[in-house]
Amino acid sequence: MLCAMMLLSCGNARRAQAAPAEQVSVAVEEERPVGAWTPIRLSQQAVSFAAEGGKTLVTCLNYDHWWLNDAQVAGTETFFHATPGADNTYQTLAGEGISARIVGRNQVEITVSPSKKTRAWELHLQAGDAFTAISVKQDVTMKTEMITNPTLESIAARTSVRSFTDQPVSEAQLEAMLRAAMAAPTGMNVQPWSFVVLTDKSEYEAIFKNNFNLRIFKSAAAVVVFCADTTVTRAPRNNPDAAPVTRPNGTWRDDMGACTENFLVAAASLGLGTVWTASYPYPDRYLPIKEALGLPATVVPYCVVAVGYPDKEVKPKDKWKPERIHKGRW
Ligand SMILES: Cc1cc2nc3c(=O)[nH]c(=O)nc-3n(C[C@H](O)[C@H](O)[C@H](O)COP(=O)(O)O)c2cc1C
Repeated sequence: MLCAMMLLSCGNARRAQAAPAEQVSVAVEEERPVGAWTPIRLSQQAVSFAAEGGKTLVTCLNYDHWWLNDAQVAGTETFFHATPGADNTYQTLAGEGISARIVGRNQVEITVSPSKKTRAWELHLQAGDAFTAISVKQDVTMKTEMITNPTLESIAARTSVRSFTDQPVSEAQLEAMLRAAMAAPTGMNVQPWSFVVLTDKSEYEAIFKNNFNLRIFKSAAAVVVFCADTTVTRAPRNNPDAAPVTRPNGTWRDDMGACTENFLVAAASLGLGTVWTASYPYPDRYLPIKEALGLPATVVPYCVVAVGYPDKEVKPKDKWKPERIHKGRW
């Protein structure tokens, strides 16, 4: 078993501050008419449209005196209301990544936060006494700006991969990923980690006894057990000359999370697939690993990461939710 395991440690190589990755702005500007003029019956009082990230201009014909009553995310309960002011023609709506503003006597400008997803909206128009029919046409001007670079692309490309080809992962690739893992920030720079790299599948039944991820591990080119020392041994802060004291490390799980994510992103940057599987705090999973691998008393197997070449394309999930971002206060 020993020959199948490598306990890796990192030297204190001093490196110059890395040059920032080139920032690439992708600006997409597109002007296109969407659909024909749509007559809206007053009983209807609403126009539906799809807006991608960017600006959408909705032009109202034959009626120069409209105002925004409310907007709704189609198919949901989410409404944004505007209370009419003294001048009904200049109302602004805002919420959930959308804002709407009357920009002229017959135009409403809708701005939707940049997002890959097309979202459907309904505009509800105020019916007045002075008209009997209105028509609406969408003239869409879309401007989407997204900053990207190779680092951001690797973060976005990472997704959980659970089945792999037979292609091995090289020592150099493993070292690159482990260097990234060990570059993670840690509370008081404790760096509580050690890693056990496994490639001998014949040992997995014993190490991962009763672990429902066993099938994934067997498919992977390598399996890395992320180990954490849950204690820290240091001289007291206020007395650096005193004898070192061992106490619990309050941030070891945060430290290990940062370390694991760095590993996964580094793997994605190399075209490799990974999946992070939980180990600690589930005794049925981490105790067999701890025993089989001979971990010291204060060290726990925090998680197990399978790595290899994906055997099929796995698309990352789109998790971008601009509405989760609050500016200034919740
Ligand atoms: C703490 C943690 C534990 C996880 N445990 C498992 C696991 O035991 N088995 C598994 O197949 N995936 C596991 N995952 C992967 C998640 O299911 C996955 O990250 C999530 O569904 C989001 O999908 P994505 O990674 O493709 O973005 C775990 C992820 C985390 C962060």
